[in-house]
Amino acid sequence: MAINFITILFFLPLLAINVNAQGPVTYDITKYGAKPGGDISQALTDAWNEASNSTTPSIIVIPRGTWSLSQVKLTGNKAPLELQVQGTVQANPNPSQLPNKEGEWITINYVNYFTLSGGGVFDGQGQEAWKQNDCHKNRNCAKLPMNLSFNFINNSIIRDVTTKDSKNFHVNCISSHNVTFLRFTISAPGDSPNTDGIHLGRDTMIHITDSVIKTGDDCVSIGDETKEVHIHNVTCGPGHGISVGSLGGYASEKDVQGIYVTNCTFIGTQNGVRVKTWPSAPAVDCQ
Ligand SMILES: *[C@@H]1O[C@H](CO)[C@@H](O)[C@H](O)[C@H]1NC(C)=O
Ligand SMILES: *[C@@H]1O[C@H](CO)[C@@H](O)[C@H](O)[C@H]1NC(C)=O
Ligand SMILES: *[C@@H]1O[C@H](CO)[C@@H](O)[C@H](O)[C@H]1NC(C)=O
Ligand SMILES: *[C@@H]1O[C@H](CO)[C@@H](O)[C@H](O)[C@H]1NC(C)=O
Ligand SMILES: *[C@@H]1O[C@H](CO)[C@@H](O)[C@H](O)[C@H]1NC(C)=O
Ligand SMILES: *[C@@H]1O[C@H](CO)[C@@H](O)[C@H](O)[C@H]1NC(C)=O
Repeated sequence: MAINFITILFFLPLLAINVNAQGPVTYDITKYGAKPGGDISQALTDAWNEASNSTTPSIIVIPRGTWSLSQVKLTGNKAPLELQVQGTVQANPNPSQLPNKEGEWITINYVNYFTLSGGGVFDGQGQEAWKQNDCHKNRNCAKLPMNLSFNFINNSIIRDVTTKDSKNFHVNCISSHNVTFLRFTISAPGDSPNTDGIHLGRDTMIHITDSVIKTGDDCVSIGDETKEVHIHNVTCGPGHGISVGSLGGYASEKDVQGIYVTNCTFIGTQNGVRVKTWPSAPAVDCQ
């Protein structure tokens, strides 16, 4: 027993040094040429390319202040990677200025053990775009970019950030596994068109917790092949409430299973929780 104790005492200082040496490395976008007021897309991409290539944990920091960002698509990482957004990141108010019109504003794909955090704001500046949006009456309407698009991401956490005034859906999270949205704030006016809060599809194990979603469309919308969604202590409204669907539009769609909505508050929403199906869809089995 005494020997064990001495062994621990002897190794503790070494352990502390080791932990210290392996602490995450920080990549600040201002070290990659980001300037307040300028477009930070390139600086963020360069910082990401370096950080995501690291085999030890890293943190990319967008410091306090207001930054513009035209568009980015970030992919892949080798070790845990955190993107800390401390400031406000603004989109170009004009949707036609998006360099790749097929893409979304900020896309993060194929990451594992990724964290988005920092207390900052993604401001989609959608006011101009909403005026041009006629998707509620025109199925072939011009496509507007979504704010944040997370696809094929695993074991990731999106916490303590705000997305406001997206031109379209605020967050799209497709084909992902074990993703937690924690203390996540979404804010857009109740009359902004198609500004769904979080849209899920083909996901498993999603938690949306302690969050506030104020928007013009669905608070959370859940598309086909989604399983195990836990929505807990979320305040929705204004907006349309939590929606499963619309389902049954395509024959190849797979079932939605295991949607748990607990301790949520709906303020001034059209609905609480609803299931939307196309007229030809088979019966819904709600338990
Ligand atoms: C990533 O790491 C590899 C191997 O160390 C290196 O060859 C490559 O240039 C790095 N890429 C970037 C973008 O830093
Ligand atoms: C995420 O998990 C799926 C299923 O286990 C796996 O096929 C995929 O490669 C993972 N993606 C990443 C980026 O780790
Ligand atoms: C994110 O939200 C803002 C505000 O609505 C919007 O202007 C911006 O376009 C959104 N981002 C994308 C990629 O749509
Ligand atoms: C889910 O992801 C979180 C965050 O990375 C991780 O801590 C947790 O272990 C993962 N859960 C499972 C069951 O893999
Ligand atoms: C519910 O979420 C709100 C908003 O994030 C938070 O302030 C509150 O503490 C949470 N309530 C509980 C019981 O955790
Ligand atoms: C649910 O909400 C109530 C009232 O806000 C709170 O007292 C309770 O702790 C919450 N339960 C859980 C499991 O968060």
